[in-house]
Amino acid sequence: MRICYTIEEMREECRAARSGGKRLGFVPTMGALHEGHLSLVRAAGDGCDVVAASIFVNPTQFGPNEDLAKYPRAFERDQELLEKEGVELLFAPSVEEMYPAGSGTSVIVEGLGDRLDGRSRPGHFRGVTTVVAKLFHVVEPDVAFFGQKDAAQVAIIRRMVRDLNLPVEIVACPIVREADGLAMSSRNAYLDSLQRRQALVLHRALMRVKECWEGGERDAAKLVAPGREEIAGEKSVRLDYFEIVNPDSLCAVENVAEGTLVAVAAVVGTTRLIDNIVL
Ligand code: PAF
Repeated sequence: MRICYTIEEMREECRAARSGGKRLGFVPTMGALHEGHLSLVRAAGDGCDVVAASIFVNPTQFGPNEDLAKYPRAFERDQELLEKEGVELLFAPSVEEMYPAGSGTSVIVEGLGDRLDGRSRPGHFRGVTTVVAKLFHVVEPDVAFFGQKDAAQVAIIRRMVRDLNLPVEIVACPIVREADGLAMSSRNAYLDSLQRRQALVLHRALMRVKECWEGGERDAAKLVAPGREEIAGEKSVRLDYFEIVNPDSLCAVENVAEGTLVAVAAVVGTTRLIDNIVL
């Protein structure tokens, strides 16, 4: 696996990798890799001739009081995991490489960027879309792979790609869960064993909504109620949002059709976790 630290190097390597019409798949990450990330790499390997990944803890998507400084970093371990999965190119730029002094341009997806996580994390999606657009310009992938766990991120990146006519296909891969249902996340590393148990309430709450849906309920307010009730029952968990929304517009729906997104975010201890299901 070739590791590139500069934009120039990575761009050259990616162009060479795509020569002769080879299909280049790209998995952008912030590192601290888990099975969820590896499932994206495997999906890229299945559908593409060459796989590239990036590890970059993007400062612009963290708010001033968020966990940028303590975000888990495990570069050597990540590198080994990616190598084992057959990744050929790894982009690992510094902050200065990605955002040289004086950088002042960003990508904003109006509307969507202020919904769900965007509402409670102002500026978060602007940081995500800016860095993903920059990464796409460096790597020029044919296909890029994202986890469905960040369903709002997927919707916003799809919209950005559509609005800016970026020639890249976006593939969302299913959420990978621990055996007990907890959605895999790099931030799970912050949880102690009690919080780890408390965090299971997110999945339980989603399962209550699913049960209701399978029982024939189609009214969003009635579907969301048992989910919110489940979270309220876990006193130490603070709900941020529990919403039923259109997966493309992220707008709340009243009558729930198949394919609708049920998304939750909650804070366990000091760790903000997200999860979702598609009905
Ligand atoms: O999902 C993530 O890990 C990040 O938001 C991404 C897409 C790598 C951009 O920094």
